[in-house]
Amino acid sequence: MQTVATVADLRQQISLWKSQGERIVLVPTMGNLHEGHLALVRHAARCGSKIVCTIFVNSLQFDRQEDLAAYPRTPREDLDALRCENTDLVFMPEHAEVYAEQHRVQKSLPVNPLYRQLCGEFRPGFFDGVAEVVSRLFHMADPDVAVFGEKDYQQLLIIKQLVRDLGLAIEIEQVPTQREHDGLAFSSRNAYLDPQERAIAPQLYAELVRVGERIKSGLRTFSQMESQATERLQRAGFRPDYVAIRDAETLENAAYEADYIVILAAAWLGKARLIDNILVRSG
Ligand code: PAF
Repeated sequence: MQTVATVADLRQQISLWKSQGERIVLVPTMGNLHEGHLALVRHAARCGSKIVCTIFVNSLQFDRQEDLAAYPRTPREDLDALRCENTDLVFMPEHAEVYAEQHRVQKSLPVNPLYRQLCGEFRPGFFDGVAEVVSRLFHMADPDVAVFGEKDYQQLLIIKQLVRDLGLAIEIEQVPTQREHDGLAFSSRNAYLDPQERAIAPQLYAELVRVGERIKSGLRTFSQMESQATERLQRAGFRPDYVAIRDAETLENAAYEADYIVILAAAWLGKARLIDNILVRSG
């Protein structure tokens, strides 16, 4: 496994592989890898012949509520884990390398309403930061395929839209959320939970499942279901930002007759902002 820190080295290796007919699969991460990330890497192995992972903590997607300096960084463990998963190359650039002016893709990236709702409403600028770094990483690595998790469902839809808007020939692959034995979705932010909060945390997923069961049984009182779920989370000790029942393709409010629905939630527990979602076919 090679580790490179400059765009020049990244491009040199990828151009060589492409000239040899290899199919490049990119897995962008911010490091502190857990089972959720490793599932992306395992999926990447099925999508192409060379796996390229990036480890870059993108300061543009942090806001005042989350301390960039406190974000968990575990580079040595990350490299060991990626080596075990047969990763071919890891790109670990510094901020100045990624944000050098010549790597800007477009002066301003296309923004659409997806950026400003749900997590975009509670974390202003977050998705602009994600789109900025992902577009740069796509431009640098020029992959055939890129892999993202369904755990960050809104991010996934924004990246699919970004690829269409920029006219990029990159296939976006999505991987189901990986969970701990009690249902809590793997996340680097789980490290912020103390033991008492960790015991409460699985109730977020349990609440989504409860709402999902009701939808599958034919219930369509979506806004009432959202408020009730929010109240139950509050009673359990969370500070919910939102619980939302949306069309899984567009993230618009789910219509009565919608049959592919995503139930999304974001809620604070102590210092951790947890997000989760489940997809439901109601038809
Ligand atoms: O999902 C993440 O870890 C990040 O948002 C990403 C896509 C690596 C961009 O920094």
